[in-house]
Amino acid sequence: MLAQHTLAPNRFEHVPVAVFPSSLEASRTVAGEIAELIRSRRQGDRPVVLGLATGSTPVSLYAELVRLHREEGLSFANVVTFNLDEYCGLRPDHPESYHHFMRVHLFDHVDLPAAQVHLPDGTVPNAAIDAHCREYEEMIRAVGGIDFQILGIGRTGHIGFNEPGSTRRSRTRLVTLDPVTRRDAAGDFGGEEHTPRSAITMGVRTILEARRIVLMGWGQHKAGILRAAIEGEVSSQVTASFLQECDQVHFVLDQVAAGALTRYRTPWLVGPLEDQGLAWDERMTRRTILWLSQQRKKPILKLTDDDYNESGLQDLLRVYGSAYETNLAGFYQMQHTITGWPGGRDPARTKPGDAPVRPLRASSANVFPKRVLVLSPHPDDDVISMGGTLCRLVEHGHEVHVAYQVSGANAVSDESLWRSLLFVRDAGLADPATAKRVQKLCADYETTGALPASPELTHWKALIRRHEAIAAAAVCGLPADRLHFLDLPFYDSASVRRRQLGERDVEIMHRLLGQLRPHLIFAAGDLDDPHGTHRLCLHALCDALARATNEPWFSEVELWLYRGAWAGWELDEIDLAVPLSPQEVLRRRRAIFRHETQKDQALFPGEDSREFWRRTEDRSRQLAEAYNALGLAEYEAIEAFRRQSPEEFLHHGQL
Ligand code: F6R
Repeated sequence: MLAQHTLAPNRFEHVPVAVFPSSLEASRTVAGEIAELIRSRRQGDRPVVLGLATGSTPVSLYAELVRLHREEGLSFANVVTFNLDEYCGLRPDHPESYHHFMRVHLFDHVDLPAAQVHLPDGTVPNAAIDAHCREYEEMIRAVGGIDFQILGIGRTGHIGFNEPGSTRRSRTRLVTLDPVTRRDAAGDFGGEEHTPRSAITMGVRTILEARRIVLMGWGQHKAGILRAAIEGEVSSQVTASFLQECDQVHFVLDQVAAGALTRYRTPWLVGPLEDQGLAWDERMTRRTILWLSQQRKKPILKLTDDDYNESGLQDLLRVYGSAYETNLAGFYQMQHTITGWPGGRDPARTKPGDAPVRPLRASSANVFPKRVLVLSPHPDDDVISMGGTLCRLVEHGHEVHVAYQVSGANAVSDESLWRSLLFVRDAGLADPATAKRVQKLCADYETTGALPASPELTHWKALIRRHEAIAAAAVCGLPADRLHFLDLPFYDSASVRRRQLGERDVEIMHRLLGQLRPHLIFAAGDLDDPHGTHRLCLHALCDALARATNEPWFSEVELWLYRGAWAGWELDEIDLAVPLSPQEVLRRRRAIFRHETQKDQALFPGEDSREFWRRTEDRSRQLAEAYNALGLAEYEAIEAFRRQSPEEFLHHGQL
């Protein structure tokens, strides 16, 4: 079944890759293969030995296996399982332990005898860990080795917890977790300081010895590392790349996770476009020209016939006739992305000769002022990702609203709250009972270094972020009555990985849309945020828009996606580029500075520890430099957006 979805081999990919329209379909197919294997072993035969993974990736696979058990009688009586890994220091009943995860998602719902389940034990004392690991390997050998190994991939390229640096000969052992991995898990543990530092994991060698290996990868945030694992050199820096060395492996991806592969990013390098069912449409033309300009380090208008020919782009030249014509096509497309009037201009005050307001839809071009809704997942994404554009929209006289989708309370440290409590304690503003409580909380923090977790304290943390957002918006000229703090309830779930959108989330978003009837919506299309909050916020918008399709404003609304602190748009994805002056860059910096509690967020050891304002400035300056290098114009900085058709957006597939 996987074979049907396996891509034709090409010289860039070093392992077989199957791509599915969605992770759900992919999971069903993998579950089907596992079910077939289980059913093909007769009673009395050697058991089927499954190597299991945890994390968000296999959740839908386990759900399908449970369904097959319940509805189609798939029995696990003759199955033995070995999990890849477990955090050190977590008891099996800890809600974030992998023991617990496996019970919740699989073991409690199928007829797998407890004696046939194996996971490394995270509570083994240090001195006994080596012996425990050897025993784990021995148990795998004793049942005849692993028949089918399921894998996910971490953002560091890890399989199991084989972090960069693990060798191909490594066996089950104690490992130290990479800072990126810990950061990704920090949300589940209520902060980095509570996240385990080490784990026991099967080694690379242990994994490679399995008779069949399927690595699954979903979502845009995995696209880059998947490309490295599939197309890059085999290297201990990306341990998933070791899988290139075995014949029994399959990578199973959804469409967006496969998006960075050469066949999708630069398909002309793979072969003629027609052979791949593709055409030289506007997007492809632009993407190719931008790529060529960067490869040749030349502005677009200086590319020659030789540049195209030597890069194997004769087909593109044939479409346009000459390098000159091809260049112009690419150049105009890029030039038309630039506007200093992101919401359009007051038509009454527009004089002939004024700069054009290019990328806006004709239908709303003459509406002035526009109702603009900026959706900010956390209370700082607005200024971090589009602070300059926000200031412009306000200055141009539009009715700008900012809606903060989640409270952001989880990212406020106890120390930040303690400082606010000190103010309450010392200002003498609270009634005697409250003053006493606050005094006690401060004293607790001073002795233990932590505050107790409670809904009330979480609410206070949310207020701190709210006030920072109000101050930042004020820098952009936005009064507090244009700010909407939605506090979407999905964010309050105890475990980040178990967060799901609910009816109330969508209803809150839908109500806001109905109330504002926006002409323009700016939303975070930044799906690489480590905790997945941005993705859920975008889903919430998507579902809310789906409910609004019959409302009169829907047919006119324009949707622009920004990307923020963690990644930028590729040049060829940009539809709207808003240039900023040096003064505007400084103003945006002042706005970002108002989010004082978020400075710690950038202080993870080993990670790019630049603060948000720096990341923002670097990214928007680099983008301006890239536009300049293409031969367009020399700006101080640029904020970029991608147009998203609201109609197409209603299909989650793209997320
Ligand atoms: C899980 C494991 C890890 C995960 C990887 C991806 O047992 O060993 O390698 O597969 O970290 O995690 P998710 O699926 O949560 O993105």
